[in-house]
Amino acid sequence: MNKTLELIHKRKSMRVFEDKRISDEDKRAILEAAIQAPSAGNMNLYTILDITDQELKERLAVTCDNQPFIAKAEMVLIFCADYRRWYDVFCEHMDEVRKPAHGDMMLAEADAIIAAQNAVIAAESLGIGSCYIGDITENYEIHKELLKLPKYVVPAAMLVFGYPTEQQLNRTKPNRFRVEDVVHENGYDSAKAAAMGEMLMAREGASGEAFVDWVQRFCKRKWNSDFSVEMSRSCKAMIEDWCREE
Ligand SMILES: Cc1cc2nc3c(=O)[nH]c(=O)nc-3n(C[C@H](O)[C@H](O)[C@H](O)COP(=O)(O)O)c2cc1C
Repeated sequence: MNKTLELIHKRKSMRVFEDKRISDEDKRAILEAAIQAPSAGNMNLYTILDITDQELKERLAVTCDNQPFIAKAEMVLIFCADYRRWYDVFCEHMDEVRKPAHGDMMLAEADAIIAAQNAVIAAESLGIGSCYIGDITENYEIHKELLKLPKYVVPAAMLVFGYPTEQQLNRTKPNRFRVEDVVHENGYDSAKAAAMGEMLMAREGASGEAFVDWVQRFCKRKWNSDFSVEMSRSCKAMIEDWCREE
């Protein structure tokens, strides 16, 4: 395995950090790597919010489903899908400009998230751990105000960074599915997809009652949970706000 592949395989989410500063140089290197990511039409359809204010970090730790480790992270970046900048330039120089719509939001979200993943890999190469915080897409109205987001700018992904503790470094990375289970040739293979139960049993190393118990607990925690209901409500509000006629 080459060094890049090794790094990708080794990376895991880090949630407990040492009390150690990330140098300006390393932070800059991570941000420079983020913007080297592929970008639709090379439009860089995102803005990265660098959250340096401790009070704001603490507020986000609450609004992002009460995850205190957010406030303890040395570096917090929020990648926002952003069509505001381009739309303003188009409006300034064109007589007729259509409004940003659903497709534009999806494209900008993809741009933002791909840039975020570049930041993750760059940080990992510098020995800096990271963790995505999906809950930044909850509480849209609160985050919009807190982060002063104008129309056509919405949060896509949040990342927290820091030097991982020894315990985090030694933690076992969660298992993945097998490539064969996830890759379908030339179109969706419903028969393969129907083997989800078996895929999960293999991944979790559980069968029989233990497996049923695992599925029930996981479903309660991740699917039937308040946070996932809130995320859907919030994302609906986000899309409606983006597409609302002014
Ligand atoms: C879109 C997205 C949202 C996530 N949100 C959270 C989160 O809010 N809190 C958290 O602790 N981990 C979060 N994670 C990290 C996942 O739990 C983690 O990637 C997964 O369990 C696999 O573990 P690994 O990253 O250590 O390989 C998120 C990951 C992704 C990709």
